[in-house]
Amino acid sequence: MSKFLVALSLIVAMATPSAFAQAAGNAERGARLAYTCLGCHGIPNYKNSYPNYRVPKLRGQHPEYLVIALQAYRSGERSHATMHANAAGWTDEQYADIAAFLAGPALQPGAISKPVGKAPAAAQTCVACHGNDGLGITPQYPNLAGQHADYLERALTDYKKGGRKNAIMAGFAAQLSAADIKALAAYYAAQKPGLETSRRK
Ligand code: HEC
Ligand code: HEC
Repeated sequence: MSKFLVALSLIVAMATPSAFAQAAGNAERGARLAYTCLGCHGIPNYKNSYPNYRVPKLRGQHPEYLVIALQAYRSGERSHATMHANAAGWTDEQYADIAAFLAGPALQPGAISKPVGKAPAAAQTCVACHGNDGLGITPQYPNLAGQHADYLERALTDYKKGGRKNAIMAGFAAQLSAADIKALAAYYAAQKPGLETSRRK
């Protein structure tokens, strides 16, 4: 194993803290709380107005990851004014309920038998956590398969430029060129079965 891969596997191990253990959310309670969320996340191809990119698909995502993302908007680790406003004022328990509802049945590792297309060279480091197929190998690592490419590009650019301050992803995104980001976003967006727009029921 190269030094790089040893270092990477250490990071992967450290990035999986058991402190993240969450109680499973209640999707029925979540359905009642998620009404406003569906105004954006329940409409296929709905766009963030400025800058212009599609709002992320949440159906099939790991609910544990969705809770972590909501905490990041609430704390300001992710700077996005609209999502900060939407995430503020809820408890972690309510997040878990909403996440269980919006995610529906989460795509698990192994759901994709054969990745579509050829992974770009820059994906070499990503696969340790997001898989070759874009399915996160733990519930804390997001699924990327089938996500909107323009949203993936936006997220990676934010990790690179500091709009998102997650320490793990900042390190990996820093090494990516704009062309790498485009290629990675297109590759993971093409994977099937993938994430979908959340449904009202
Ligand atoms: C006005 C439209 C709008 C509404 C309403 C809205 N969102 Fe969002 N949401 C967005 C946008 C845009 C993003 C992407 C923000 C970014 O670039 O980080 C986002 C991102 C997210 C993410 C991160 C997904 C990921 O893959 O990391 C989660 C989770 C989320 N929203 C949940 C919710 C929940 C729960 C509600 C309701 C309480 C909600 N949103 C309401 C537009 C909206
Ligand atoms: C050590 C594990 C690890 C590696 C390696 C890694 N990621 Fe991540 N990735 C994560 C974690 C954890 C998050 C959630 C960060 C957060 O909370 O904002 C994430 C988030 C993301 C997101 C945001 C998804 C969303 O829905 O908003 C994208 C896109 C992403 N990673 C792409 C990549 C790409 C491309 C690579 C390779 C260059 C990569 N990741 C390498 C762990 C990793």
